[in-house]
Amino acid sequence: MTTTTDGTCPFSTIGGEFNPFVDPYLSDPYEFLARARREEPVFYSPEIDYWVITRYEDIQSVFRNTQNFSATIALEPLTPLWPSSIEKVIEVGYVPGPVLVNEDEPLHRARRKRIGDAFAPKRIRELEPRIREIVTEYLDRFVQRGHADLVDDFVWEIPALVIFMFMGVPDDEAGQVKQFAARRTLFTWGRPTEEEQNQLVDEVGTYWNFCKQHVARLQENLGDDFMSDVIRAHQEDPDLIDETYLYNTMLNFLFAGHETTTNASGNGFRTLLENREAWDAICKDPSLIPNAVEEILRYSSSVIAWRRRATATTTVGGVEIPEGANVLLATGSANHDENVFTDSETFDIHRDNANRHLAFGFGNHNCMGSPLARLEMKVILEELTRRLPHIRLAEGQTFEYSANTSFRGPDHVLVEWDAGHNPVPADRT
Ligand code: HEM
Repeated sequence: MTTTTDGTCPFSTIGGEFNPFVDPYLSDPYEFLARARREEPVFYSPEIDYWVITRYEDIQSVFRNTQNFSATIALEPLTPLWPSSIEKVIEVGYVPGPVLVNEDEPLHRARRKRIGDAFAPKRIRELEPRIREIVTEYLDRFVQRGHADLVDDFVWEIPALVIFMFMGVPDDEAGQVKQFAARRTLFTWGRPTEEEQNQLVDEVGTYWNFCKQHVARLQENLGDDFMSDVIRAHQEDPDLIDETYLYNTMLNFLFAGHETTTNASGNGFRTLLENREAWDAICKDPSLIPNAVEEILRYSSSVIAWRRRATATTTVGGVEIPEGANVLLATGSANHDENVFTDSETFDIHRDNANRHLAFGFGNHNCMGSPLARLEMKVILEELTRRLPHIRLAEGQTFEYSANTSFRGPDHVLVEWDAGHNPVPADRT
């Protein structure tokens, strides 16, 4: 447990009440976070041994201060590994090395520049027709059914298929990788018991081997995809991008590329359908969709917290964060900060500064995949509103969320409609 620099215990009421793994926070973190912003915007949480920062300005200052706040903690298991799990990590051969998101300058900048070249806007734009085809295929499967789970039936696999195409991985592995990813969320950001953690390490080991195999396959036959470009960069400059970096890039891009976007879409469906006038407005005028996507990312972010570690004692929001302390940046809270967003607890797809949200982080490490995520969410909403504008949330459902600090999206979103009234004649029963 941490102490302040004068040796006193930093325990407080708000800090004592913070438990991100259980209700009420799990089903609705925003009420608690609004109170924290008002009463104690920077607090210490004994539950997770992190300093939690909740105001927009303070969070932005930490993201900016790459000197005093290191990103190396970003993928460390939040629940420290039990000795038996460490043995297992060695046994399964998993080598958790750096990737962009958890490395510091100057190496991060050099690698991001090299890898970022492979992430050109043109390559992202060219994916749009294929994304639309995938979305259409999934909609075709249930459009006449009159009811669906918009997570399981629709956006569970779509972002995985898109990132596969981007990374050069065959489509038929999507279901398996989705399972790996869900387990990896619990391993890195959850609160597993020793037994659960042991089991999770086994599964991460399988995922690791899966990624190694795909890198090896691409190495033998390079293609026109992002991962092949990273392999080319490795061949040209193996000191900058070594073999382990390739495997970790495969593992982490596959993860970053879909879990976040599935959750963001699920949050979008729930929020839009609970705010019917917003849903009806985008059905009537699809040109409103891009700003609606920004407002979804702000109002109900799929990443609600990100991490840094203090490398020097630093004052944030008037509170001294000791050197070596773990820091949880509650970006979901920043996105509801009333000092930046007027009527911040209101969902407003016409909001003119919605895109100031921190859902994609901020500064040197800001999300490299954000143009792809935005494009996917836009196409998903365009096609859904065009073919099923009359869907409504099934009554009586409760929304459930995975117990972890950072990744947030409903497990299921159940909807119903009268398929006889589908607007596209070919879609009618
Ligand atoms: C709605 C979807 C997404 C959300 C909410 C999201 C969120 C984030 C966040 C919070 C960070 C950390 C930023 C920081 O430390 O300042 C990040 C980094 C990153 N994301 Fe995303 N992400 C999404 C989709 C994607 C996709 C589709 C990809 C890949 C194609 C991707 C690839 C990355 C990469 C490579 C980084 C590390 C960048 C760096 O450290 O330089 N993300 N993302």
